[in-house]
Amino acid sequence: MTDLLTVQNLKVSYPTRTAVIEAVRGVSFTLGKERLGIVGESGSGKSQTGRAIMGLTPKHAIVSADKLDFNGIDLLSASAKQRRKLRGKRIAMVLQDPKYSLDPVMSIGRQICETLRTHENVGKAEARDRALAMLEAVQIRDPGRVFDLYPHEVSGGMGQRAMIAMMLIADPELLIADEPTSALDVTVQLDVLRIMDRLVSERGMGLIFVSHDLRLVSSFCDRVIVMYAGKVVEELKASELKNARHPYTQGLLNCMPQIGESRHPLPVLDRKPEWAA
Ligand SMILES: Nc1ncnc2c1ncn2[C@@H]1O[C@H](COP(=O)(O)OP(=O)(O)O)[C@@H](O)[C@H]1O
Ligand SMILES: [Mg+2]
Repeated sequence: MTDLLTVQNLKVSYPTRTAVIEAVRGVSFTLGKERLGIVGESGSGKSQTGRAIMGLTPKHAIVSADKLDFNGIDLLSASAKQRRKLRGKRIAMVLQDPKYSLDPVMSIGRQICETLRTHENVGKAEARDRALAMLEAVQIRDPGRVFDLYPHEVSGGMGQRAMIAMMLIADPELLIADEPTSALDVTVQLDVLRIMDRLVSERGMGLIFVSHDLRLVSSFCDRVIVMYAGKVVEELKASELKNARHPYTQGLLNCMPQIGESRHPLPVLDRKPEWAA
């Protein structure tokens, strides 16, 4: 498989007055046209990893890597302009809460059209047709009506689908989905996952799926990397998750509730200082 993305020894840190916060501390992985899951507890550096790939870390962040290559493009030496051109067009990111990503004062359809027209030279009518088709692809039943709605007028699940439509309209080669379903209830969660899954297999896209939910990730992804305190502690095939060797991954697995099992006492995730070393 040819690699779409190569990440070698990625570091993201934030200097503060008293110390340097190391959010990502030497993360390495490669991604082909596949679904890669990144799991880890809150604060383990998953989002910062995604943002560094997108070029969306704040100005004062220090980002370094031995290699950060997207399809032969060295992302670290790319100019701000080049990176802007890549974002949305070839690399897209779906965030946890659509409320923060959709513009509240612009109708959903117009946002999708504008995203498309920023990246491709298409006329208004064609943009509208493609936006409607995309809304249909993310299983919005009445695309013509939803097209004219504003973000506050749709449910969380529909907002998330609209957001996915907006991210996919320019046909990106790499999609980073950062906890895209955490704000949704379980049935909608599965719908959204199915939609992304279908788009990955139909369009041959690479997907990085970030989540704290190990079970969800293992059923949905091909491969999983487990992060702890800014580092990758384990990388596994999703199907081999049960054989996880790292005690932290085993801990995450043990914390997952099983139907019919008694939960007294509740398991507590053990943490050892040497894992973060
Ligand atoms: N702007 C920032 N300034 C300082 N530290 C930050 C900033 N953004 C994130 N961090 C720190 O980076 C670490 C990793 O954060 P993040 O990648 O968001 O975790 P995750 O997505 O795994 O929950 C956290 O400890 C967080 O406090
Ligand atoms: Mg996060």
